[in-house]
Order: sequence, then C-alpha cells, then structure tokens
Amino acid sequence: MQRLAEYRVFWRQFREQYHTTGAVLPSGRALSRALAHYVRTADTAHVGRARRILEVGPGTGAVTSQIVRDMRADDHLTMVERNDQFVSHLRNEIDTAIDFQPARDRINLVHSGLEELPQEQHYDLIISGLPLNNFSVDLVDCLLGKMKQLLAPGGILSFFEYVAIRRAKAIVSPASDRQRLRGIEQILNNLLAGAEVRRDLVLTNVPPAWVHHVCPKRLSEAAS
Ligand SMILES: C[S@@+](CC[C@H](N)C(=O)[O-])C[C@H]1O[C@@H](n2cnc3c(N)ncnc32)[C@H](O)[C@@H]1O
Repeated sequence: MQRLAEYRVFWRQFREQYHTTGAVLPSGRALSRALAHYVRTADTAHVGRARRILEVGPGTGAVTSQIVRDMRADDHLTMVERNDQFVSHLRNEIDTAIDFQPARDRINLVHSGLEELPQEQHYDLIISGLPLNNFSVDLVDCLLGKMKQLLAPGGILSFFEYVAIRRAKAIVSPASDRQRLRGIEQILNNLLAGAEVRRDLVLTNVPPAWVHHVCPKRLSEAAS
C-alpha cells in the first residue's frame, strides 16, 4: 500500500516535472543497495568516526530507506530535494515510516536545489539520484562541480545512469541534442578518469543501471 502511494507520487511527478524527475519509477532495491555500498562498507578513511552523508535528489525516498538501514549509529544524513511534492512526501515518511525511525534525529531534509546548498559543510559520502542526461552541459558541469566541492578529502561520490541511455536518446534526438549528450559524456568521462574506485552493473533494475563511485579529491591531493 505504501509502495503504491510512492509509485503514484513518482509517476505524477514524472508526468508534470519530467525534466528534473527523469525516471518513470523510483530506484529498485538492487540499485538502492549498490548506491549505498559505501554507507554499508567501512572505508579505511572513515573507520571509527561518525560520517556526514548527503543524498541529492531523494525523490520519494527509495534510496534513502536503504541509506538509513546501512547508516552507523552516529552517522548523519542530509537530503537536498527541489521538488515540492517529493519534499512533502518525504517529510511525512520521516515522521511516520518505521524505516526512518532509528535515524530520525540524525536526518535533515533541505528543500532546495543542490545549486543553492550552502558550502560550509563537507560530506564523507554523497549519493546522487540526479538525472544528469536530462540537463544542459553547463548545468551538469555546475552540479558535478558543486558535489566535488562538497566532498570532504577522501570522500566518495556515488551516482547512477541507466545503461546505454545516452546512445538511446541520441538515436531519437535532433543534432543539437546529440551535441548536448556528447558534452555530458565528456564531462562524465573526465570525472571518472582515474577517480573511479568502483563500478556496479545493476541488471535487475528497471531499466538496468550503472552505478559509479568516484573519489575525486584523492586524485587532486596526490597531484599536489
Ligand atoms: C531520477 S529521480 C531519483 C529519485 C530517487 N533518488 C530514486 O532513485 O528513486 C531525480 C530526483 O532528483 C531531484 N532533482 C532534480 N534536480 C535537482 C536539483 N538541482 N537539486 C536537488 N534535487 C534535484 C528530482 O526532483 C528527483 O527527486
């Protein structure tokens, strides 16, 4: 019943806010688990201390439930979501859903775009659900730049994209859009080059997805 309500909210936002919602369905269990890999797995840099975790674009909270399940007792989760309907759905979930209760005092929901999130806080883990392939090249550059700035040294950014999505979109797109998709691919390739620490293929999601985990500040530190 709760799942059905979640799907209904998601489907309505897919129709009304396709550009920023970017998916027909919330992420499935296997994709959520892959995205939360580093919440569950102790990374040597983060052992023995509370971690700050940021989720970007939580939507109806499908991945959030997994993150909360995997969080350690003193970890803190901030979510940033721009869509009004998702924010009110999430507020209700945080107050009432059993999944959220163990961590309720350590969860903070910010109603804004990632672009406006203050920069004073740094995060050990950032998990992004942003539909980057729907955005302009400049916006993708700005959003990824912001996430890199928000990462603490040694921090890990985890994000997903649907398998072959750019190729599929390019087939049905006009030339200007193909150029936009090539620009996004270039930015993502630059981000992944040398900084990708893990990659998971989730075939059981609808649609199947790649999950990328990158540690960009490890690279810049090694270079300096
Ligand atoms: C593909 S949905 C993912 C939802 C959820 N994480 C999941 O996997 O089921 C993308 C989410 O990103 C949010 N979003 C899009 N642009 C955003 C931005 N600039 N800042 C914060 N959230 C944004 C959308 O409102 C939506 O909730």
